[in-house]
Amino acid sequence: MEEQGFFYRDTWAEVDMDHIGANVEAIRCHLPEDVEFIAVVKANAYGHGDSQVAEAALKAGASMLAVAFMDEALALRKKGITASVLVLGASRPEDVNIAAEEGIILTVFQEDWLVKAREVLKADALLLLHIKIDTGMGRIGIRTVRELKAAEQLINEDERLQLHGIYTHYATADERDDTYFTKQLALFKEMIGALDKLPPVVHSSNSAAALMHADARFNAVRVGIAMYGLAPSMEIAPELPVELKEAFSLHSRLVHVKKLEKGEKVSYGATYEAPEEIWVGTLPIGYADGWIRKLQGQEVLVDGKRSPIIGRICMDQCMIRLPQEVPVGTIATLIGHQDGETISINEIAKKLETINYEVPCIISSRVPRLYRQDGEVVGLNNSLL
Ligand SMILES: Cc1ncc(COP(=O)(O)O)c(C=O)c1O
Repeated sequence: MEEQGFFYRDTWAEVDMDHIGANVEAIRCHLPEDVEFIAVVKANAYGHGDSQVAEAALKAGASMLAVAFMDEALALRKKGITASVLVLGASRPEDVNIAAEEGIILTVFQEDWLVKAREVLKADALLLLHIKIDTGMGRIGIRTVRELKAAEQLINEDERLQLHGIYTHYATADERDDTYFTKQLALFKEMIGALDKLPPVVHSSNSAAALMHADARFNAVRVGIAMYGLAPSMEIAPELPVELKEAFSLHSRLVHVKKLEKGEKVSYGATYEAPEEIWVGTLPIGYADGWIRKLQGQEVLVDGKRSPIIGRICMDQCMIRLPQEVPVGTIATLIGHQDGETISINEIAKKLETINYEVPCIISSRVPRLYRQDGEVVGLNNSLL
């Protein structure tokens, strides 16, 4: 086994780098050639691994990266990623010199932020900025033409600052009803129309808008979820114009297999009682790995057959009812394919009553990530060792 010596507990996630690359290429093919692809790799690339996904996306034609916080941008720099990185969230104005030194692009979301940033920025610094306009998301961003014009002036009159981009973010791009989306788009067009000069990069679309709304692409799109092979929502999933391939899978191996007699109990609270003689397997994965207690009853794949989690999920382990006796060491696939059967991230999201975005994000860093290309392991990430 290629993973031996890399981790010592048989639970791991796999990221299919071919799928990341194929998704970026498929989305790019759907876009006009002059539209830049900004790969959104915040939150450790939605749990997949920041630098690994960044490299695969850049190789497949992405020209820029986006993260939520400056710490995430610095982590990419530390790992040798030299591409342009835009921080989408709020950074402290006190930290602008680090951003300038590392060539990290920051978001301006308030006039006051710019005033403070100008006070602390070193005389010889050069800081690239994107202005964020709040057209209806209600999160961060400039909300009036007056404030936008003031921000433009504060940037233009300062030679240490460069207005590199302007953008907004949609609240409902993943819904079929585009009423609110259309309002946001119209407001964005109106706001950017008030600028003296458009900056080089103008962007508004997340995955959903990039795929479904040709009128909102401007000259760049910010793609996250679709790059990982997931539909932005179940509502628009049937209408997506490109085929997406899920990149993330999750696996474990049976560490203990036993027969229980009718009436014997399983796990905390002794809530599960064997209804007859059954085979039970123990998996070394639990809620501390993000496999949370709400997943009790969810099935996993063993020998291509669905086997339900029985009893309460513990911090580090859980038990499954096996279809028959199987050897210790048998692989259990919690997310992914096995012998023609599949458990998708969407199935887990449904069980958790949440969105697919959340699923790979909550698989904790305790679970090592293994990167595959052409079926071979090409990279490993174990935050513990
Ligand atoms: C500002 C911003 N742009 C783009 C994205 C990427 O969105 P998606 O993953 O839906 O493509 C996000 C993610 O939430 C975001 O917050």
